[in-house]
Amino acid sequence: MKTVAIVGSQWGDEGKGKVIDYLATQADVVVRGQGGNNAGHTLVVEGKKFALRLIPSGVLNPNTVNVIGNGIVFDPKGFLEEIETLNENDIDTRNIKISDRAHVVFPYHKELDALAEEARGDNKIGTTKKGIGPCYMDKTERSGIRICDLMDKDIFATKLKSQIEAKNKLVTNIYGKESMFDFETIYNEYLGYADQIRDCVADTSVLVYDAVKAGKKVLFEGAQGTLLDLDLGTYPYVTSSHPTSGGFAVGAGVGPNMIKDVVGIVKAYTTRVGEGPFVTELDNEVGEKIRVQGREFGTVTGRARRCGWFDAVIVKYAARVNGLTSISFMLLDVLSGFNKISICTAYKMGDKIINDFPASLEDLAKCEPVYEELDGWNEDITSIERYEDLPENAKKYIARIEELVGVSVDMVSVGPNRAQTMIRKNIFA
Ligand code: GDP
Ligand code: IMO
Ligand code: MG
Repeated sequence: MKTVAIVGSQWGDEGKGKVIDYLATQADVVVRGQGGNNAGHTLVVEGKKFALRLIPSGVLNPNTVNVIGNGIVFDPKGFLEEIETLNENDIDTRNIKISDRAHVVFPYHKELDALAEEARGDNKIGTTKKGIGPCYMDKTERSGIRICDLMDKDIFATKLKSQIEAKNKLVTNIYGKESMFDFETIYNEYLGYADQIRDCVADTSVLVYDAVKAGKKVLFEGAQGTLLDLDLGTYPYVTSSHPTSGGFAVGAGVGPNMIKDVVGIVKAYTTRVGEGPFVTELDNEVGEKIRVQGREFGTVTGRARRCGWFDAVIVKYAARVNGLTSISFMLLDVLSGFNKISICTAYKMGDKIINDFPASLEDLAKCEPVYEELDGWNEDITSIERYEDLPENAKKYIARIEELVGVSVDMVSVGPNRAQTMIRKNIFA
């Protein structure tokens, strides 16, 4: 079986899009199974940049089938905008399939996302305001509208009417606003989308299952990251889905035994967008230097990402909860030009040493990093093609991380381009 899950090991934006794009040149199918267009996956091919949100990162490879699985919350407007941009760049988008079981994001989800954030005040999560949380709320509350509903105009009308009524009550009674959602407007807008996506809609569980059974190479593309997982992340500063490997099976509609390897995408340092505690955050000139060298500004919202040193407690936790079998180590080039580089090996809370990532955010907020300092390197490494040719101190840094996390680094990335990638062990072998 040649199936690989690609999972974010930190707080998202680790470089998942780049790795998927790189591997998609060998893959038959790429599947997304959770999240929606809160994701922002950047691909750079021959200097040209593509920012994907909902569309799987295999789309640049004409031979790869790209699946939007049942676990996705699907925003048709955002999807069609992405298609348009890709088509304008001569990318063929006919190889995209959308699950008939995926839930649909409506304008009221986005509005409610914004209203909930406003109501949280100082305790805001810092969401992407793409309506992700409210759409998953409808799903778990069992009133959501799925793609299969959207495909039938009568069923869609009945379900949408009831939702519009409920959401208008919510904004008037809870948020004290005027009734703001109009059935006719949204119904007609979405019927138009339905016609535009109809040919892509399929029972994608069958497609993925058949591909795996036929021995094809299938990649499960994670969005977000381990610490944004609804169960395993820094709750409540998380997203509303399961970006850990366990979530991929449900979200793609196949059994967990259909995922053979789990590759953790790991940034050479740590970043986070949105609110919540961050033990190794560098709110100083070192953090600023990382932000500038790493161009750490969000793909979706443009927000400056918070930056800090590598946190081995987090990546060790990601290795455990995802069952990582391999690591792709990203953005190593960003650390060129630091005399000393720190790795957080444990946390200190009062006089207690903590090795396992804690559940309580109040505890996490009290944790101080325990650092180990390594010598840095000054060379520009962006043109290096062979692992052996990396500066000795860069190799020592990687070796120490492998030792601390207990998983081998099989791929190293030294630039955003597809070509700036070193393979130590073939992931599909
Ligand atoms: P994703 O959400 O995990 O797909 O990651 P993002 O695309 O949001 O953020 C990663 C950023 O790093 C993007 O701008 C990538 O183009 C860029 N990137 C990926 N790998 C490397 C690398 O090895 N070096 C540098 N300098 N940039 C990289
Ligand atoms: P990719 O796939 C980084 C964060 C948001 C916010 C929290 C909840 O590009 O790595 P949401 O809109 O999902 O309800 O927001 O999750 N977040 C991400 N952070 N990368 C992402 O995706 C993210 N998707 C959501 O910033 O803190
Ligand atoms: Mg991103």
